[in-house]
Amino acid sequence: MADPYWYKDAIIYEAHVRAFFDSNNDGIGDFPGLTSRLDYLQALGVNTLWLLPFYPSPLRDDGYDIADYEGIHPSYGTIQDFERFMDEAHKRGIRVITELVINHTSDQHPWFQAARRAPAGSPERDFYVWSDTNQKYQGVRIIFTDTETSNWSWDDTAKAFYWHRFFHHQPDLNFDNPRVLDAVMKTMRFWIDRGVDGLRLDAVPYLIEREGTICENLEETHEILRTIRRALDERYGDRMLIAEANQWPADVRPYFGEGDECHMAFHFPLMPRMFMALRQEDRHPITEIMRQTPDIPENCQWGLFLRNHDELTLEMVTDEERDYMYQAYAADPRMRINVGIRRRLAPLVENSRRRIELLNSLLFSFPGTPVIYYGDEIGMGDNFYLGDRNGVRTPMQWTGDRNAGFSRADPAQLYAPLIMDPVYGYQAINVESQERAPYSLLNWMKRLIALRKQFKVFGRGTFEFLPAANRKILAYVRRYQDELVLCVANLSRTVQPVELDLSAFKGMTPVEMLGLTEFPRIGDLPYFLTLPGYMFYWFRLQPTPLPIAVQRPPDTVVARELVAESLPAFFMGVAWDTLLDGNVRTLIERESLGPFLQRQRWFGGKARALRSVRFVDWGLLRKGMHPLFLTIVQADYKDGARAARGRRGGRRGCRDGARAAPWRRAHHRRAKRTDRRRRRRRTPGARDPRIARSAGVAAHEARGGPSAPDSGVRRHPRQRVARRAADGRRTEQHIHRARRSPDREAVPPRRGGAESRRRDR
Ligand code: GLC
Ligand code: CA
Repeated sequence: MADPYWYKDAIIYEAHVRAFFDSNNDGIGDFPGLTSRLDYLQALGVNTLWLLPFYPSPLRDDGYDIADYEGIHPSYGTIQDFERFMDEAHKRGIRVITELVINHTSDQHPWFQAARRAPAGSPERDFYVWSDTNQKYQGVRIIFTDTETSNWSWDDTAKAFYWHRFFHHQPDLNFDNPRVLDAVMKTMRFWIDRGVDGLRLDAVPYLIEREGTICENLEETHEILRTIRRALDERYGDRMLIAEANQWPADVRPYFGEGDECHMAFHFPLMPRMFMALRQEDRHPITEIMRQTPDIPENCQWGLFLRNHDELTLEMVTDEERDYMYQAYAADPRMRINVGIRRRLAPLVENSRRRIELLNSLLFSFPGTPVIYYGDEIGMGDNFYLGDRNGVRTPMQWTGDRNAGFSRADPAQLYAPLIMDPVYGYQAINVESQERAPYSLLNWMKRLIALRKQFKVFGRGTFEFLPAANRKILAYVRRYQDELVLCVANLSRTVQPVELDLSAFKGMTPVEMLGLTEFPRIGDLPYFLTLPGYMFYWFRLQPTPLPIAVQRPPDTVVARELVAESLPAFFMGVAWDTLLDGNVRTLIERESLGPFLQRQRWFGGKARALRSVRFVDWGLLRKGMHPLFLTIVQADYKDGARAARGRRGGRRGCRDGARAAPWRRAHHRRAKRTDRRRRRRRTPGARDPRIARSAGVAAHEARGGPSAPDSGVRRHPRQRVARRAADGRRTEQHIHRARRSPDREAVPPRRGGAESRRRDR
């Protein structure tokens, strides 16, 4: 059986069959069309697809007004089309969540048609909530404030009022009648038996009504959810229920029960507060709601979203906050609907790419499972002139061609007009163009999704805010097993500094996760960061240097490279045993010998400033390609003193002394320089301040600065320096660095030391 907690690692994509792709050119998206676009979803990286209602329906609430729970709306295809779709989705590793809308049906549902005709008190009538008066349950809020004035409507056939929390054409089912619960559980089994992996429980707080209450979140409602969950678990192992409960965090918490109600629930109050914090350039709205978010059972998960198919609901904010949000995000009153704002993500943030990325970074790193609303991954716009929430439900924009490539029907035939304005219109915003542009929003989203999927910490880890004096900065830490992630976000439009107390992570190295860039190691001081406007960083906190640095002590790797690079180059002919006869000797004396002596532990004059050093005598001990010299070196100090020592030295490991043509030499020099730079960049730990420090010292040494403790630089192959003890007296070789052809450059560095030293003995 698959991991029963799969929903914790899910990336959910919310889509409407009707809006995605039209396969038969009737202007309406359908299951075969959706199936044909599964490759796109797979490439995007999402692993879970949530489908809005696709059942037979008069479509007066876009399908949430269901007329038959166990069928497919004929415009969208057949049950066979659905089954094929399920197979293809699963083949691509994509799970499917569908809607279980149990609070209400369409008034066209046969149950309601039977109920209104059946006599009062009969089992048929009892499927819905009836009353002789519309005065019951006073004080229960109206949800669709723009269209409804009461939760009761009169039915002339039944000669009674029926209860409805949403549109008047959506009568509420009566969950005090056990046959209703049986019927919806049968529906649940119907879809799960067809492979559905998860069910979104629509409008779930409103199942039960009781006089004197607000008829929301009642204990009896929770009892019903426990029954549904039991039935699910008894028969199926790894399926999931997600609650749509637009409530305050403390009221949503019971929908998880003791891990025995819903596996997931949407976090409604967080969503508007992300937008609020962004506009106010202040993290407070976010930190406050997260502090008020209770812990949830181990097997449960929050569902997080920025936008969905409904309005940006402002039910779960204070009056003041609501006024602010309207003013900030819906200046035009036509953008408002019910208690919310009917706009998509990109238009909400005025098409600011940086703000879109910032909000997505929060969505993908906050504790919970992210839900992407179709089209938001390319930054689609909306059309609030369309009425109801239809402006955020327009056809998916695939290409810049006719009907955005969504359908080949006549444009007038489409179920809804396309977005056609110059900013968000399909010629400007479409999948095809963004797939071609490496830095498009679509490709950025793919990278973010791929990154998130590499780490379980985002879906499963703990969450804690880090205090920071600068309130424009939001910083938090996520932990899961050995995964430790620090997230820092700048909510303001301008660059911001922040000092973070990371003492708990002292000694660790933050590695920025999108670019794999190592930042300075965390030390004793507050950690200082600068973030450009709307920037966010995700850092993996690494406890130890990466393995490659472990193989070779990091201090020496870079130090050696730097010393090697700072050494002067000498152009030599074939005859290396005449090395000290010509002007190269003077060059070595002038540029290398002094700094070399200063680095040697045996050199007694380290503390004193050298004026000059020179070879006063030498003799060739071994001829050939690897000559060996005995030399006497004289050092003159700035304080007037002088010292001389006998040295034995030779040419090591240099197999090709032939002098190349000048243009080739310049070319090789450049090639080696870039190669070295590249290697350094690849060297993990290169940015480690400790390494940088010792590298700095080494470089300084090589430039002839005061000597530092021997740092092992002698082992570098290109430096060809070795040490040897003979007769209780140490001898030392000269440094020389010869230009070799690039293919020789590929000789692994380690071979220089031990091997050639042995050969020389
Ligand atoms: C849920 C849906 C919404 C629908 C309502 C009534 O809130 O998200 O779209 O209008 O239920 O069915
Ligand atoms: Ca169609």
